[in-house]
Amino acid sequence: MDIMSLARRGALGLVGALLAAAAAHAAVNLPKKSKAEIEDGKVCIECHMKESPGIVTEWRKSTHAKEKVDCMDCHKGKQGEKGVVQHENNKAGKVFFVTTVVSPKACATCHEKEVKQQVGSHHAKAGQILASLDGIMGEVIGGPAAVNAGCRQCHGSEVKVDNSGEATYETWPNTGIGRLNPDGSRGSCSACHARHSFSSAQARQPETCGKCHLGPDHPQMEIYNESKHGIIYNAKKEEMNLKSKKWVVGVDYTAAPTCATCHMSATKTQGVTHDVGERISWTLRPPISTKLNMVRLDNGDEYDLAESKPLPKVGDIDNSAQGKGGKVTEVLTWADRRKKMTNVCFACHSSNVINGHYKQFDDVVDLYNDKFAKPVAAAMKELTDKGYITAAPFDEKIEWTWFEIWHHEGRRARHGASMMGPDYTWWHGIYEVAQNTYFKWIPEMREVVRKKDGNEAFADALLEKHFKPIQGHEWYFKGISKDALENVRKGFEERYGKGSMK
Ligand code: HEC
Ligand code: HEC
Ligand code: HEC
Ligand code: HEC
Ligand code: HEC
Ligand code: HEC
Ligand code: HEC
Ligand code: HEC
Repeated sequence: MDIMSLARRGALGLVGALLAAAAAHAAVNLPKKSKAEIEDGKVCIECHMKESPGIVTEWRKSTHAKEKVDCMDCHKGKQGEKGVVQHENNKAGKVFFVTTVVSPKACATCHEKEVKQQVGSHHAKAGQILASLDGIMGEVIGGPAAVNAGCRQCHGSEVKVDNSGEATYETWPNTGIGRLNPDGSRGSCSACHARHSFSSAQARQPETCGKCHLGPDHPQMEIYNESKHGIIYNAKKEEMNLKSKKWVVGVDYTAAPTCATCHMSATKTQGVTHDVGERISWTLRPPISTKLNMVRLDNGDEYDLAESKPLPKVGDIDNSAQGKGGKVTEVLTWADRRKKMTNVCFACHSSNVINGHYKQFDDVVDLYNDKFAKPVAAAMKELTDKGYITAAPFDEKIEWTWFEIWHHEGRRARHGASMMGPDYTWWHGIYEVAQNTYFKWIPEMREVVRKKDGNEAFADALLEKHFKPIQGHEWYFKGISKDALENVRKGFEERYGKGSMK
């Protein structure tokens, strides 16, 4: 039993209870409520217990209920504001204005710190995806219905309200991570903290992240389940102490890390962060990965800057396109970000394992970048520049092949290596990158050139220029060397006897 529960049960003296209460509210600004406000809250609970017991019962079990945070603390709205409706079915004889969409602004009344951290992060910006390649794919090649019920359920919709103030059915329900709310704020806290229990314990479980972080193009959940970390978590879930209030790795639990442990939760020397990008040093999403530095601004925003770009200094007025005139308050280099992550690992590992892991991970990213992504990207650019393919994406087969190489298998390889999922690094990863580069993309490139002007020499020249100089492609041009084959034959014969390699 933690100190809070002891205090609540009166098992501690007054001093203990005061101490516990001070610790509990250190970061929460709980505003005082008038008697009338408290009475209003009771009205909601009474009726909703009859109308929708699921909501009230879950709320009653929550920390919020214990802290007397009630329905109106989150749902109250001002008449005339976007998304605020006069409550229907109200037999209580009083007029209430409520909002169904509870944005981070409502939570910020009490949880300012968490909201601030989240607002600058990629999570809060995930709703702005229309101006992307995947956006064209979803809207044009798929169709808007699939975007509403697909992409936007992970990324977040722009919640539109009709004349009556109700959210429209196309855009609601939605708990996408970067939801654009009617009040102008970004994000949805219930993406991870499901209503109405709003619990840290639930958010710490990997399944919470797994709603979105799975599938062919970002299989973090599958990788985690394959990794030793996931295996041990699943075997020892009851030893994870998930309900502990502070949940410090190495103190409150030691069995295994979850997604939250590595990307968000506290260590002995590091606090919880709701900025999930803080501890990552690469971006593994784009066609070619780069290490990223992070710039934070006084307006609450932040952005990533590729390692090769010049960095502003703390105190500078940042007039770059991303800085928009804000004042720089913090610069985290990719190495600083990596240090924040390795600080988590040290609760359970020594530096050899940690440094070895990062060496193996970095090497896979370099292999993918240098051997496959850069040459194919350069050749695709030349094909476009010279008019062999159109500038429009996805109207030619070869563009789909390249898209899958970087967006699916190329990401899988990089994600697998970053989080100890060997099957994703190799069989779902580099194996497929290689197969599709050599036996789909190259033949399709030859076909594109042949169809356009029969210029076989141009296709050969492209490969000579972009592939041949790069280590690792020798076998493609010269065949697999006799030495390499001879080694394999010897190995077979040692294991299975003479003549065993057919
Ligand atoms: C007399 C019963 C009653 C009272 C009192 C009441 N509600 Fe409701 N409320 C309902 C019912 C029934 C619905 C479902 C309406 C529907 O399904 O269209 C509802 C719906 C809602 C919704 C969803 C609205 C929407 O448009 O999607 C919210 C949010 C809500 N209530 C909050 C509250 C709050 C906050 C209070 C206290 C101020 C409250 N309710 C008081 C009966 C009540
Ligand atoms: C800590 C804030 C918080 C409190 C307290 C709270 N809600 Fe909610 N409620 C939410 C959020 C968040 C959602 C989901 C909407 C969203 O994602 O913005 C929601 C959704 C709802 C809905 C729509 C649910 C559905 O599935 O149709 C109703 C109705 C509702 N709340 C009623 C209540 C009632 C009644 C109470 C009091 C017992 C209450 N809420 C307390 C934050 C809160
Ligand atoms: C009126 C103030 C208030 C509002 C509004 C509010 N909370 Fe809380 N919340 C609290 C208090 C008080 C606690 C208990 C803090 C503690 O024990 O340290 C808490 C605790 C929490 C916890 C930890 C609970 C646990 O059991 O693990 C989460 C998660 C949380 N709130 C999320 C939210 C979200 C999301 C919203 C908005 C939808 C929200 N809160 C709105 C006051 C509020
Ligand atoms: C199952 C949830 C899910 C669905 C459905 C989904 N995405 Fe994503 N998307 C994600 C996640 C998670 C990431 C981040 C992956 C990572 O970091 O490895 C992402 C990444 C992206 C990115 C890259 C963002 C960046 O900053 O680099 C774009 C663009 C994108 N998605 C657009 C779309 C579009 C458009 C659709 C629909 C056609 C879609 N997504 C469908 C979950 C989803
Ligand atoms: C990506 C998932 C995710 C989202 C989105 C998210 N949270 Fe959390 N939140 C967590 C996790 C995980 C924890 C538990 C951290 C830990 O281990 O103590 C947590 C803990 C909390 C706590 C308890 C803080 C503490 O230090 O004990 C509060 C309060 C909270 N979140 C509020 C919010 C609010 C407000 C939002 C919306 C702005 C939000 N969260 C959005 C995952 C999330
Ligand atoms: C043992 C710690 C650990 C665990 C557990 C873990 N991750 Fe990671 N994660 C990492 C590391 C390390 C990286 C790469 C960091 C870097 O770029 O330096 C990473 C990278 C990522 C990225 C960035 C990918 C990109 O495209 O740039 C996402 C998203 C992610 N993890 C999500 C998750 C999710 C979701 C889970 C749980 C299903 C999870 N992680 C579990 C350590 C972990
Ligand atoms: C509702 C969907 C959703 C959930 C739940 C979710 N994420 Fe994400 N996450 C995304 C999307 C979408 C992106 C890509 C955002 C972008 O770049 O536009 C992303 C990006 C990330 C990144 C990369 C951040 C960066 O700066 O590049 C990390 C790390 C991450 N998520 C970790 C987590 C963890 C850990 C959890 C669970 C505690 C989680 N996410 C829960 C949708 C989700
Ligand atoms: C809460 C403890 C904990 C944390 C935190 C943690 N690990 Fe682990 N890790 C383990 C355990 C337990 C194993 C399994 C050891 C075994 O195989 O016997 C493991 C295994 C590993 C392995 C070996 C994988 C394999 O398949 O054999 C690597 C590599 C690794 N961790 C790296 C990391 C890195 C890097 C971090 C930080 C980003 C990290 N771990 C964070 C507990 C942890």
